[in-house]
Amino acid sequence: MTATKRDYDTIDLSDMAFWAKSADEREAVFARLRDERPVSWQRPITSPLMGEVNEGETGYWAVVRNEDIVTVSRNADVFSSGSGGVTFEDVPDEILEMATSILTMDSPRHGKVRRVISSTFTPKRIALIQDQIAEQARKIVDAIAPLGEVEFVSAVSARLPMWTISEMIGIPEDQREAVTDAANLMVSWDDEDVTGEMDAATAMLNGIVTLHGVCQDVIDARRAKPADDLMTALVQAEVDGVALTDDEIRSFFVLLCVAGNDTTKQTTTQTLRALTRFPDQRAYLAADFDERIDAAVDEFVRWATPVMTFRRTALERFELSGQVIEPGDKVVMFYSSGNRDDRVFPNPGAFDLARDNRNHVAFGGRGPHYCLGNHLAKTQLKAIFSELLTRLPDIRADGEPEYLTSTFINGIKRQRCVFTPQR
Ligand code: HEM
Repeated sequence: MTATKRDYDTIDLSDMAFWAKSADEREAVFARLRDERPVSWQRPITSPLMGEVNEGETGYWAVVRNEDIVTVSRNADVFSSGSGGVTFEDVPDEILEMATSILTMDSPRHGKVRRVISSTFTPKRIALIQDQIAEQARKIVDAIAPLGEVEFVSAVSARLPMWTISEMIGIPEDQREAVTDAANLMVSWDDEDVTGEMDAATAMLNGIVTLHGVCQDVIDARRAKPADDLMTALVQAEVDGVALTDDEIRSFFVLLCVAGNDTTKQTTTQTLRALTRFPDQRAYLAADFDERIDAAVDEFVRWATPVMTFRRTALERFELSGQVIEPGDKVVMFYSSGNRDDRVFPNPGAFDLARDNRNHVAFGGRGPHYCLGNHLAKTQLKAIFSELLTRLPDIRADGEPEYLTSTFINGIKRQRCVFTPQR
């Protein structure tokens, strides 16, 4: 930890009251920081998972411009993911170990394990899952089509992501609900609606224990009887001639459940709201869905930016937008701010399905940890909106949603939607 004493910025990003505000209100604050103090020094944030701020904790650098987020992400030798966690709020070491897999590894191990894992997402497997995702999306819309109104998050958004992961890993049908509940605990550890009486750390640990138990059963089953699926590939995979341990596979499974669940789910709900708020864009998409959906999906993801923050720890001195970052300093990237940066996106507050989105940072800043599931996420979004917009063409969000207060996930817990019922 650096001994440098610095003044904290007058804008306080560590105050939970800031995160309880609307995304538009937060964006107004980020816009000021992007213009005036793109790299600002902030007081430490208190994590509900740790209770108190760690002794000796001095603060973190807040990185809010798109270009700087890319610089931090790409300079992974300077900005480490393996030293001290990657979430804005601290997470206990034991949880990191059991739940984060490659997300908290540095080179060279990160590259090697990531290569092994990516090699199991073979084109054949992705192609197979694509057809299944399309079929599943159809079933989701079949179930709501006659109803005319539903709570969109539980009836639509939440269903496809966990189904996809469960299918890829081979989770038995009767355990999928338990897996979904446990995965929800992992991202909503400070939401009483999800955790009930449990404190944040207990909720998260409970989630992990459940996921590890279910995963171990699948590991054992595939070791005994290999199948043509992702888990078989994982148990047979080797890094430098050494197989992944059960601990490593379980940790990767938890990462998949966290990384691949709430992200796509939140994007789905945020997109329905955006299509409701910007009817011209919806009409533009509907006019030539097949031709326009690929570019549109990138705008869905930029617009939603479901993962708002990730953190790194500096290993070397580095100058960024006029500030000197010292070894040991924490650096937090605010993706939600980077995706509204008008240096990169003209009129960033417009939902524009034809915009050039090559530089959005919702999947990360194009460094070595760039989202491994980005293609899969886009496949799911295409499938569900293809079904929704063709079969329920007037579906729209109705009324205000119930938001999740979080420094990590841009979340909507509930959103009513209405449409003309279809038989
Ligand atoms: C809209 C949906 C999604 C968004 C916005 C998203 C966002 C992200 C972000 C911001 C990162 C960190 C990037 C970095 O540090 O540079 C990440 C990493 C990751 N994501 Fe996603 N994600 C999404 C969907 C998925 C899905 C569906 C899966 C898999 C089923 C997945 C698996 C992963 C994995 C395994 C990593 C870790 C990669 C590494 O550390 O090398 N994600 N994602």
